Amino acid sequence: MGVAVSLSEMDSAASQDGSGVSVSKPGEAGLKALADYLAADMQACNQVIVDRMQSSVALIPQLAAHLVAAGGKRLRPLLTLASARLCGYNNQDGRMRHVEIAACVEFIHTATLLHDDVVDDSQLRRGLASANAIFGNKASVLVGDFLFARSFQILTADASLDVMAILSAASATLAEGEVMQMTTQNDLTTSVEQYLQVIYGKTAALFAAACESGAVIGDVTPAEREALRVYGANLGMAFQLVDDALDYSADQAVLGKEVGDDFKEGKVTLPVLAAYEAGSEEDRVFWRRVIEECEQQPEDLDAALSLIAQTNAIGITLAKAEDYATLARQALQGFPDNDLKALLLETASYSASRAS
Ligand code: IPE
Ligand code: IPE
Ligand code: MG
Ligand code: MG
Repeated sequence: MGVAVSLSEMDSAASQDGSGVSVSKPGEAGLKALADYLAADMQACNQVIVDRMQSSVALIPQLAAHLVAAGGKRLRPLLTLASARLCGYNNQDGRMRHVEIAACVEFIHTATLLHDDVVDDSQLRRGLASANAIFGNKASVLVGDFLFARSFQILTADASLDVMAILSAASATLAEGEVMQMTTQNDLTTSVEQYLQVIYGKTAALFAAACESGAVIGDVTPAEREALRVYGANLGMAFQLVDDALDYSADQAVLGKEVGDDFKEGKVTLPVLAAYEAGSEEDRVFWRRVIEECEQQPEDLDAALSLIAQTNAIGITLAKAEDYATLARQALQGFPDNDLKALLLETASYSASRAS
């Protein structure tokens, strides 16, 4: 692969299965409708992403392009673009602030994916071998740092203290969430409240910031800004709960990530907590061995899956996601009805029902 990645490469990687035929995955209708509505803005955002990941140090664009060309859903930048437009940002200032901020949000997300796959020892990302699997842990961590630094540069060029405050706070919260997760790993005494705090930190805070940073560049009341922050936070909670369910229930080819990664790492997610809580003493002995001691045999994932099925732990996790999606939809009540609001309502539903 060359050093620079083109937009057409990105588009084909994102929307086709390699046979030249567009594939649509279950539960994706809501997201696709939002992406279609914002296609021109998103194309501009993809161009900023490609431009701003360049560097004279060849390994940086090479590694970043591997991940960026693999696509990804672009959900967070879409939320920034949608929030800005919903709040009336219409390039009145002759600038493309919504596009720049959306790209910044995706840089923060991409940086965390690079770091997260090292921390989780994940081998598959966006349907391809992960960057750490190809380029090694050191390169992934360092290029992740570069992308974080680039996001700060985009923010300083935007020159809004409000936007900087929102996105720098979310970046700190995100890192706290990942560290908190590390400290709850292999610990089955973790409470559901602690788990919810972890997923707020590692995922929902950036969703909240993606929405709020889009809102503040529009003509927005404090109540509208807060409503979009709350929408993003609840949507992010739903999104991560489903992610944690998919780690035990997805079709790996559809998910584009390895199913069973959380189990392998002994992560204490809601599917495990729910199965542990409802399990017999014998089941609990099993969970303690595989999650707390991380003493795992090849057949243990199947055994875990069957205990998860017996206790309806996936159903419990998805129901919780649906509760958050409802809160997300409720947060938008004060906005006048229009196409964009309808799409954001659908996106909340998508987050609680997605398959990838
Ligand atoms: C992955 O996020 C990390 C989580 C918060 C679960 P996405 O599922 O949005 O990843 P991409 O960008 O679409 O690959
Ligand atoms: C997602 O955590 C949060 C971040 C990437 C910060 P996960 O570890 O669950 O994400 P995936 O499943 O690897 O995408
Ligand atoms: Mg991970
Ligand atoms: Mg996951």
